[in-house]
Amino acid sequence: MTQRYRYLSASIRPPQPVGQTLRKLAGWAIASSLGAAHGCGTSIEDWTPIECDPGSNVLRNAAFARPVDFFALYKDYNSIPLPGDTRVIDVYEVGHWGEPCADASDPTACADALEAASQVRDACRTNMQCGPFAVANVDDEVSRIEKREELLAWLGPIDTPDDALTVSAWDGKTIQCPPTYASKETGTRFIRAGDQYLFGIEYDNCGVNLQRERWSVNRDGTATATNIEVLGPSGCAVGRRPEGLRAIEPHCAAGTLGRYFAQIAHLEAASVFAFERLARELTRFAAPQHLIARAAESALDEVRHARLMHVVAQRFGGERHQVEVGPLPTRSLYAIAYENAIEGCIHETFGALVAHHQAACATDPELRAVMQQIARDETRHAELSWHIASWVSGQLSSPQRAAIRLAQRDALLALERTQAQPQLPPSAASLVGLPSPSVASGLVRQLARIAV
Ligand SMILES: [Fe+2]
Ligand SMILES: [Fe+2]
Repeated sequence: MTQRYRYLSASIRPPQPVGQTLRKLAGWAIASSLGAAHGCGTSIEDWTPIECDPGSNVLRNAAFARPVDFFALYKDYNSIPLPGDTRVIDVYEVGHWGEPCADASDPTACADALEAASQVRDACRTNMQCGPFAVANVDDEVSRIEKREELLAWLGPIDTPDDALTVSAWDGKTIQCPPTYASKETGTRFIRAGDQYLFGIEYDNCGVNLQRERWSVNRDGTATATNIEVLGPSGCAVGRRPEGLRAIEPHCAAGTLGRYFAQIAHLEAASVFAFERLARELTRFAAPQHLIARAAESALDEVRHARLMHVVAQRFGGERHQVEVGPLPTRSLYAIAYENAIEGCIHETFGALVAHHQAACATDPELRAVMQQIARDETRHAELSWHIASWVSGQLSSPQRAAIRLAQRDALLALERTQAQPQLPPSAASLVGLPSPSVASGLVRQLARIAV
């Protein structure tokens, strides 16, 4: 029996600079006082990002109450239903610890038992009661865990960040790796407060707003409900957002449509940076010449879109906002592929679908004419994303491709959830030609048909 259990894999962190530690403590003190009540804007900027690798975001450093060889957390779920289709049931692994059947006397029988234990739950198949479950392996023994209290019994006291993260994943909290591309998104972060772990994440709730979620997990495994704060307007589904883009706060006096179009004009202008960078990166990785040329042309399209939308914004009282983008470091091909898969294949593609709807349905004739031009260009941009995805796919490893697929699925589910809410008051939405929530959800399902 190996001794890979409690504390052995817990990381020993180097001492951190005092200023940083103090800021963390201040954040913890304020967050602790707030508990699960509505917050007052406590930053999570200095909390520690969770450690991630593709395919295993939790459990990697979990500390179990007894020796185990392998432990994995899964979720079964019904994926986005397609038109005319029945619901698709699937299982994905949230994370795992250890080596399957590492100490089994009969490895084949053990592997078969593990395989059988990690199938979709009957309750999910029969009445859509899908959710988390876990599988544990000790020597030849394989156990399936379907109750939260059983999970807590395996984990023992919740005394490592990964213990708390595993409980959070079981509870359906938002667990995301540190972002590789979008500065507005923090990834899930944590801080320890006495016997309690506090978790937080800030992200773009696509189509609705920027938001921050916080919750905590106690040593006995009890957890607070997720507290959600709205930080500002969403920048999703309009063009490609470059890494490091600083959010703007449109002036309140501009009115609903002035603020809305100021935001759109800003995002169109920001897309110029994203495409210029993409063209440089494609050149560096010796991509086919036509992809490089189309990325460069797309940057010019976005210059034109920014000008057009700025004119519209001015008409409704909106102001011009300077685009500020932080340093853009050299990236790996995987980081480029990941960004392209989300920003291009999902958000920009969805943006193109919405632009077409606006071009057809805006009650304002001037806007309809503008959106016809933009919809045409955005369709080409969306197409470019998929061509880039296809070119880059052969150069990625299987785990990288799997991580991207999972991230795309998450992005689609987030889109589907959030598009169910109106983005503008009905009269403004009709003038602009935005799809109703039910139509927008239909567009997401359409997109899902090509994306997953
Ligand atoms: Fe675009
Ligand atoms: Fe655009």
